[in-house]
Amino acid sequence: MKTTLSIIKADTGSVGGHNKPSELMVKKAKEVVENGINKGLFTDGRVTYTGDDIALLMVHSKGVDHPDIHKFAWDTFLETTKIAKSQGLYGAGQDLLKDAFSGNVRGMGPGSAEIEIEERAAEPFIVFAGDKCGPGVFNYPLFEGFASPYHNAGLLLAPEMKAGFTFHIMDVNYTEADRVISLKVPEDYYDICVLLRDPNHYVIESVVENATGLVAAVASTARLHNIAGKYVGKDDPVAIVRSQKQFPSTGEILSPWALAHLTLGDNRGSHHVAVMPVKQNTIISYFDGPTIMSAAGYCVHEGKLTEAVDYFDQPFWDVVREKASLKTLDMRAQGFYGPTMAGMDELEYTGVVENLKRLNEKFVVRKHV
Ligand code: 13P
Ligand code: 13P
Ligand code: MG
Ligand code: MG
Repeated sequence: MKTTLSIIKADTGSVGGHNKPSELMVKKAKEVVENGINKGLFTDGRVTYTGDDIALLMVHSKGVDHPDIHKFAWDTFLETTKIAKSQGLYGAGQDLLKDAFSGNVRGMGPGSAEIEIEERAAEPFIVFAGDKCGPGVFNYPLFEGFASPYHNAGLLLAPEMKAGFTFHIMDVNYTEADRVISLKVPEDYYDICVLLRDPNHYVIESVVENATGLVAAVASTARLHNIAGKYVGKDDPVAIVRSQKQFPSTGEILSPWALAHLTLGDNRGSHHVAVMPVKQNTIISYFDGPTIMSAAGYCVHEGKLTEAVDYFDQPFWDVVREKASLKTLDMRAQGFYGPTMAGMDELEYTGVVENLKRLNEKFVVRKHV
């Protein structure tokens, strides 16, 4: 029997500004997930948060996009929204952008990443969850972790990976349907770079191993401004990555995160800062940020999860966090000028458009003499 790993997340309200869900909300989500296990809807589940986003990890045998699993997640987020409203929390129900559930959370606000697998004898995987970023935050670390021998030494040392990987990349500006391109390393290396250099437009949806055809990674691709037509909060994506044996090792997948790469997402979703790798259940603070990413490792066996190993809760990452703070402060020192703030294509979902319209009328055109 196949096993499906489903991670579905949403921001349904927060204590303070966009900082963290309340303890009551998290407690409620944990109770509901426990009920889901007891009722046999799924075989195991976990609840965590990253900044103001609650993530539900569910293990089941129903396959991806299953309406029962998606409805369960939607209903759980309605429950946490109810609590957020009753406590007067900020942004209650923020990511629930549609009124009625229609079979699948995709296109409704919550982010999701799902993978159906044949469990290996040992099935290690990592769940990444970010806050104050878009799905393009995974472009750099996933591409490097799979395709670059700087990080994935297995490309040089493990014969199974020699045939490389296929990257399924989505054009997230195309909103009528899913517009996807499939490109392989090593053959299409430079073409992939051409797309991934623009992480607000092209994002990695999944990674498949060429030699085995096995799906190695999946990531959420939702862009909330495409659903709402205006800025309603940042996408705050999740991803699942399998590791070891025929795949890159866990350490190889984590390696690129040591750069603390720059990404868009901080404060009003409009600023570029460095991604800080953090432990699970970390809050948001400075400048409504910085952008944070947690990484939880598990093994799944016969539908049951082990305890989590909280990868960024390890002394090595202290210096990376410090580097991320310094890089972020460097960007912030330049305020709103040039590359520190989002480009117009992202800002056009915000109030800046009104300001420009108003100012546009005050321009005078002086003839060249
Ligand atoms: P194993 O040989 O135990 O899989 O370890 C290899 C490895 O992952 C080192 O990074
Ligand atoms: P969230 O998307 O995490 O709610 O953040 C919204 C924001 O604009 C913070 O400044
Ligand atoms: Mg929020
Ligand atoms: Mg958030």
